[in-house]
Amino acid sequence: MIQGHGGNKQKLATRLGCPVEDIIDMSSNLNPLGPPERIHRVIREKLTAIHALPEPDAASMSRGFARYHGIDPASVIPGNGTTFFIYTLPVALGARQVLILGPTYSDYQDACTMYGIAYSHCLAGKETGFQPDMDLVSAQAAQSDLVFICNPNNPTGALIPKPDLERLIRRHPDTCFVMDESYLPFVEEAEALSFVSDPGYPNLVVLSSMSKIFRIPGLRTGFLSGSQPLIDKVMAYYQPWSVNSLAQEVIQDIFNHPETILPFYQQTRNYIQREKERFLATLDGVAGIRIFEAPTYFILAELENFTAPEFCDRVGNDRILIRDCTNFRGLSGRFVRFSLKTRDINQLLARSIKKALSGE
Ligand SMILES: Cc1ncc(COP(=O)(O)O)c(C=O)c1O
Repeated sequence: MIQGHGGNKQKLATRLGCPVEDIIDMSSNLNPLGPPERIHRVIREKLTAIHALPEPDAASMSRGFARYHGIDPASVIPGNGTTFFIYTLPVALGARQVLILGPTYSDYQDACTMYGIAYSHCLAGKETGFQPDMDLVSAQAAQSDLVFICNPNNPTGALIPKPDLERLIRRHPDTCFVMDESYLPFVEEAEALSFVSDPGYPNLVVLSSMSKIFRIPGLRTGFLSGSQPLIDKVMAYYQPWSVNSLAQEVIQDIFNHPETILPFYQQTRNYIQREKERFLATLDGVAGIRIFEAPTYFILAELENFTAPEFCDRVGNDRILIRDCTNFRGLSGRFVRFSLKTRDINQLLARSIKKALSGE
């Protein structure tokens, strides 16, 4: 396994000599409202499901997702998180040259490395707010048989407009595109931007993580949807029982109550918009930090006078864990990312950032 994800609370707790429960984790991008209310109840009620094997292909779980999005259940694969698909796609689709739009989540390149598959990056720069140059992307896509796109992108938050993506996908029918929409449900009007309910592209697969929006990363659930030939190739690598019984029960329950999903998304979107504005207002005019505005609730920031590890250590002294972005290809060692939480916690972070910047 390749190291370098966020969320290592234990390491910070050990450094500070405090209980791990005292650490506030703002390094992982999860719904600040927590999971939908019913999830804990479902887990309690369905606990005995672990006494039997789960459905081997988790087909019931896919049916709910497909019904919600108005697509054919045969075009959906349920997974043990989208991580399963990220690591399976390059090999299952027989990729020889992979293109990754960056700076982005490092698992796309780690998946290629795992199988010895060549990859390159098309890196957007800070001058454009990390918006990729789509002509350059298109030129590089022509030389690649698989392209990873994270939309909106982690860690930059950059969102590529759907018409630009449609043009790109259509222009390169012999290239497969992987659209990672794991953070899209947090974005206003996500339904119109998503490719899940728009299955007319033979060369496209979409990844939808359940971990982020429903705040259940520990259950490990996600979906891949796409055209039948690509689905068949991924299914050739599918392992039975890869989604555990409780995870299947929870996801089925969510999609068996479709009327609750959009209100939950809306509630999340309203909350994060309000709280992000409030947080950014607190940092407005503060010298030494540049915030990159984006539609996501996680925020990328560049530091003028500190390296990212130094700054993370300083904020860490206040028992707040933020993400050092040094290992994101295409970012210098001066970028950090923090994922906002509730109002009080966000204010703690703002105070800690100001203190750290002032050199205290
Ligand atoms: C962009 C992106 N895609 C996918 C994942 C994997 O999520 P999961 O496997 O929990 O669905 C992550 C996790 O951080 C991520 O940031």
